[in-house]
Amino acid sequence: MVQLSGKDRAEFVGRMFDRISGRYDFLNTVMTGGRHYSWRAKAVELLEAKESGVALDVATGTGDFAFDLLNKSSVTKVVGVDFAGEMLNTGVRKAYDRGLGSKFIPNIGDAHKLPYKDDSFICATVGFGARNFIDLPGAMSELVRVIKPGSKVVVLEIVRPAGLIISKIFLFYFRKVTPYIGGLLAGDKEAYTYLPESVQSFMTASDLADVMADTGLGEISVNRVALGTVAIISGKKPD
Ligand SMILES: C[S@@+](CC[C@H](N)C(=O)[O-])C[C@H]1O[C@@H](n2cnc3c(N)ncnc32)[C@H](O)[C@@H]1O
Repeated sequence: MVQLSGKDRAEFVGRMFDRISGRYDFLNTVMTGGRHYSWRAKAVELLEAKESGVALDVATGTGDFAFDLLNKSSVTKVVGVDFAGEMLNTGVRKAYDRGLGSKFIPNIGDAHKLPYKDDSFICATVGFGARNFIDLPGAMSELVRVIKPGSKVVVLEIVRPAGLIISKIFLFYFRKVTPYIGGLLAGDKEAYTYLPESVQSFMTASDLADVMADTGLGEISVNRVALGTVAIISGKKPD
């Protein structure tokens, strides 16, 4: 997998998430000790919309970020876009189970070419998806394009921590523990070997913030949680 790039990598990633869609939420909870829920909730707190309307959750997967967005009074509906159909199907089932079926609008689509008009959404989020994008600056520009001027993008992502000791613990966890747990509980060691590879080659929180700033977002704020291994970064599209 390490050698894959471009379209081949995107197809590999989509197939992999489709395969693990039924176990994704459970594995997320096991691997983060249940913390992933509070990280999304914290990310949503950073969004202060000036008007009410429709929000966008890119790489929505099984929909947890979208459901948190729907807790905000300003968010009337959430469009959840993802290229893995089985992840989205799981999200739709969850939405109906929670009585949110009419407010969660699933769309099959690619973050790099969002099928929406400019200035459409009151905010946009990406949770644990940015690491998978084959052209991160391109995808970030798309997010900025489709949100309204003055509104925010929030990205939640696993990042490479800066400190030496934490980096070593982090790499040990992702290289040794994650594939083991993935193999054991999801029966899919390949998928949970991809995770450490994608994290190892990914950015620090500061690098990610720089990419967001380069797309024209201002008022960038960087919040680190989980000993600096997870970042919640927000930025505002200029008015
Ligand atoms: C780790 S899951 C995150 C799901 C969810 N956002 C969450 O917070 O748990 C990553 C998701 O990103 C999707 N994805 C990756 N690259 C994508 C792209 N270029 N366009 C759309 N979806 C993408 C995958 O299919 C997968 O469902």
